[in-house]
Formats: sequence, structure tokens, C-alpha cells
Amino acid sequence: MKESAVKNGHPVREKKLSLNNPYFDVADEEAVRDTVRSGWVVGDGPKCREFEEAFARYLGVKYALLTTSGTAALHLAFMGLGLEEGEAVIPDYTFTSTGLAPILNGMSVKLCDVEYDTANIGPAFIEQCITRKTRAIVPVDYAGHPCRIDEINAIAERHGLAVVHDTAQSCGSKYKGELVGKQALVSCFSFHATKNLVTGEGGCLVTDDDKLAETAYIMREKGTNKRSMVLTGENIGYFEYQAKGNSYVQSNILGALALSQLKKLDWMNQQRREHAQYLNDGLRGIAGIELPWEAADVQSNWAIYGLRVLDGKLLAVRDALRAEGIECNTHYHPLHINSYYKNMLHCSAKDFPNANRVYATLLRLPMYPQLSRQDLDDMINAVKKVMNSVNNPS
Ligand SMILES: Cc1ncc(COP(=O)(O)O)c(C=O)c1O
Repeated sequence: MKESAVKNGHPVREKKLSLNNPYFDVADEEAVRDTVRSGWVVGDGPKCREFEEAFARYLGVKYALLTTSGTAALHLAFMGLGLEEGEAVIPDYTFTSTGLAPILNGMSVKLCDVEYDTANIGPAFIEQCITRKTRAIVPVDYAGHPCRIDEINAIAERHGLAVVHDTAQSCGSKYKGELVGKQALVSCFSFHATKNLVTGEGGCLVTDDDKLAETAYIMREKGTNKRSMVLTGENIGYFEYQAKGNSYVQSNILGALALSQLKKLDWMNQQRREHAQYLNDGLRGIAGIELPWEAADVQSNWAIYGLRVLDGKLLAVRDALRAEGIECNTHYHPLHINSYYKNMLHCSAKDFPNANRVYATLLRLPMYPQLSRQDLDDMINAVKKVMNSVNNPS
């Protein structure tokens, strides 16, 4: 095996392979261009409505509310449900938005450990976190791999809790044969630049709950009745301020882009699945790493392809792969080690053994539809080369 690039050997790739790369085609460009030209760029416009109807139909839910971000969708869910006190149980291994949404609405959070193999919140750990103060559970589908939502719903039902499903990463994933988004009381997707359906920034709240949807439509539009006035045609020249809210309606430009992206979402996710399978086949059996895991009853959208690098070699392997021309990175710093949560919650690292282990081992490799066979082979060759040098230090 050749000298590794980190030791001044020749890299596997001269031109770096980027970690994230949104997939856009001519149809996306035309959708944006046509909407800009139409002059109808304000939020909750016809393209937003068209997307919402198509997305609700795709998922098999009653309501889809396009928002400015996944964080906005989560916050809107908490506002809409009127969850303003008590605690929300959230995974320790997640993005801060999972915690910000309940906190912004006046709640506190209880951090819960995750399962090592999927990095998703563990139903058994949730039970241990529930107290008299608990009002909600916010499970996350890390990397697009659905969490064990049936078990989580059953726990919530037993304890009278709301489930706000953070599906930021799992657009198009399947759980027990059904698309993710219809299992919980409310689910919140992200359409951020790094996600599978991309509008740059954006998100969507989906639910079957009539009351939640009715309130969320008002709160998404700064607490006004603008939407119902527009829909009923009863435009009396002013809106009534009916509730608290925020400015979370998405622009018609990005509504058009979301609609165009939705049309190829299944195809884009299929490309990712094939890439993940190819990488798994090429990387199987290498000492010192573990491959990503997929449960038998789910179909991940492979939002993230994450290896586990064992034996404390994570950062060395990351740096060596970068030197080989493969962009890669670690992922979440568990919430409990971030100053905001640490100072607020005073929790102890020993309560999160699995989150700590995921944090210490997880390495994200490039994953997006347009990866070529050559890109995938370069990734496999680079990992083999790096692990060979890590496993056989001279
Ligand atoms: C698990 C999770 N929740 C929420 C969010 C927030 O989404 P957005 O960036 O669209 O606000 C993200 C985004 O990365 C996420 O990964």
C-alpha cells in the first residue's frame, strides 16, 4: 500500500471530494426563475400551496405547512400544541434545534441517552427520563434512520405525553413500510442545504390533527388570520391579530423549489441507497471501523453515511482521509457538553455513555445523489489506505 498523503505520500484524489453537495437540475432552476419572473414571491403563495398539497399526498397526512426552516417547524409545533411548561425529553445526541423548540416555548428539556447502533433515542432510556414534569418526547431520526417510533408513541400514550417527531433528516425514509411523517402527532422536516430535499433553508410541519393545524396556520403567519381571509376571499382590508406567533411562512420562490425537488425525491433517495450499499460492500471487513447499520423494519434515506472509527483513532483517520482528498467530518457534540445545555442542566457525562461513544467514533463521509462510481471507489480506496496505515504503524 502506498505512503499515506498525511505523511507526504500521493493522495487518492487531487481534487477534493466535498462532504455535502445539494442536487439541483434544470427543472429546479426553471421553477425558481419562473416564480421570480411571476413577481409572486411573498410567503404562502400558490407554489407553496401546491407543494403542501403534493407533500401531504405523498406522505399520506392531512396537513403540511411549509416553514422557513426545520427549527421553525419544530417551534411552531410546540406553539401550536400549547406546550408552554414542564419538560420535553430529547436525545442528547442531536442538533440544538431539537432542544430550542421546547425551550423557546417556555419548557425545559431532559436529555436522554441514545442507542449506540443508530444514535437514535432509546425507548428504554426514555422511560427512565419521564417524571411528573414531562409533557413531550422529541425523538430524532438520526442520519435519516427512523427511530423506534411505535414504541415511543406507546410510551407517550401510557404517560399522556405529546410526541413531536424531529424528522429533519428523514424525508423519504420508511418505517415498517410507511413513509416517515405520519406516525407521530406531529412531524417536522428540514429542507436545509445538507438535507435530502433541499431549498437552501426551509422546513415543513406535517400532522393529521385538525386543531393543531388550525392554530399553526395562524401562528405561522405572525398570529394573524391572513390565510383564512385569503382562502375564503373575505378580504376586509386588514388582518386580525388572534394569537402569538412568528414569521414562519416560506417564500413562494422556495415553495416552487420544494415542489420541483419533491418530484425527484424518491429518485434522489434511491441513488443514496445504492451508494450506501456500494460503500458497505466495499468497506466490509476492514479492521478498526464499523459500518452504518440499518434495522430490518426500516428503509433509511441515507441523509448521512457515517462510519464508526474505533480505538480512539477518529481524528487521526479524519485528518488522514482529508489529506487523501476525501472531505469528511465528525458530527454532533452531544448537547450535554455544550455550554448552553451544560450551564442550564448541570448534567453529568456518565448519564450518556452511548451518546459519548457515538461522538467519539462517528465519521461522516460524502453522501449525495450525484456521487459517481469513481467518487465511491476513491472513498473506498482512501479508507482502505488510511486504515491500513492506522492498523500497521511503521
Ligand atoms: C435533527 C435536526 N433537527 C433540527 C434541525 C434544524 O433544521 P433547520 O436547519 O432547517 O432549522 C436539524 C438541521 O440540521 C437537524 O439535523
